[in-house]
Amino acid sequence: MNVTNQAQALLTPFAMGDLDLTNRVALAPMTRARAGETRLPNALMAEYYVQRAGAGLLITEATSVSEQGIGWVGNPGIYTDAQGEAWQQVTDAVHAAGSKIFLQLWHCGRTSHSDFHGGEPAVSASAIRIEGDGVHTPLGKKDYEVPRALETDEVFGVVADFVAAARRAKAAGFDGVEVHGANGYLLDQFLQSATNKRTDKYGGSVENRFRLMREIVEGVIEVFGAGRVAVRLSPNGVYNGMGSDDFRETFRYAAEQLDDYGLAYLHVMDGLAFGFHEKGEPITLPEFRAYFRGPLMGNCGYDQDTAEAAVASGAADMIAIGRPFIANPDLVERYRNGWPLAADTEMTTWYGGDEAGYTDLPSYREA
Ligand SMILES: Cc1cc2nc3c(=O)[nH]c(=O)nc-3n(C[C@H](O)[C@H](O)[C@H](O)COP(=O)(O)O)c2cc1C
Repeated sequence: MNVTNQAQALLTPFAMGDLDLTNRVALAPMTRARAGETRLPNALMAEYYVQRAGAGLLITEATSVSEQGIGWVGNPGIYTDAQGEAWQQVTDAVHAAGSKIFLQLWHCGRTSHSDFHGGEPAVSASAIRIEGDGVHTPLGKKDYEVPRALETDEVFGVVADFVAAARRAKAAGFDGVEVHGANGYLLDQFLQSATNKRTDKYGGSVENRFRLMREIVEGVIEVFGAGRVAVRLSPNGVYNGMGSDDFRETFRYAAEQLDDYGLAYLHVMDGLAFGFHEKGEPITLPEFRAYFRGPLMGNCGYDQDTAEAAVASGAADMIAIGRPFIANPDLVERYRNGWPLAADTEMTTWYGGDEAGYTDLPSYREA
């Protein structure tokens, strides 16, 4: 084993506000869809997170804040008290294992389908359909549909749902929440000009397009305090039909505005490994650094070397790792010891199913 000082930056502790993280590796939020029709967190999910508690911070899979926000089969919710209470087994287990855990708050917006909503269309900023591949609904794979644009006076209800979800998350023992503003879901649909053609106070100027995110962040901060609230953005992503000509100006504005709050961290999917919209040069972490002075988390396609370089250079404070963490529950220990990584799992076990491809992946010591 040849561990230089530089090779240790990623694995050094990080004081994220008043939270002491054991290292700078985060488990990236990953939908694994093991919550069933009730969308209740369960013991299998607790086991999955505990297995990955070597990460300094665990970010949960995207979790629905409301029935309106549902759009995926089998992902967990936090829109009922029973769901909130069921999350406690996850937070207790993760804390006992020595890590910290943030809940990712999610509203799917137009990526959903009427099959999830009793035949009513999904909602979005504007009535613009996603082009391309379809959506898995409880009734099978379907084409995307034209969503219904939320009325101005309905937007408050979305904010209220995020705030109520944050309250349940706090009661369930989460250390904080990550507002899902990335990957073409509802907040991203409002933020980006390609999907927001509104003429009310939530559309048009970048200030107006950012308004929903601002209202949600401010509402959630009232619950948790700013130091326990994070936001995820995907400035370069094409996933779910995203990408806007003015992406640089939009995300610069968002970062500058979010900087004022003193958030726990800003999570930026800077890498291109999840798809790139090719609307211009990708926005890099150093570019975000110029607008956002708080803790910055990078993500997308990082391995140990590139994550190490990003932290050692000061470009990022933390790096979130996704796919490698599926097959390597003890990923951080492998990094620390220079142990080889197991190959990525089959996509067929990513979403839904049982422990196969989920909690049955051995650690290096077990293999
Ligand atoms: C199976 C799977 C599920 C995912 N679910 C989510 C999710 O719930 N929320 C989210 O923000 N990103 C989600 N993502 C994106 C990841 O957080 C991450 O951005 C992506 O995998 C790129 O990072 P990686 O190259 O380290 O895997 C998911 C990715 C995968 C592979």
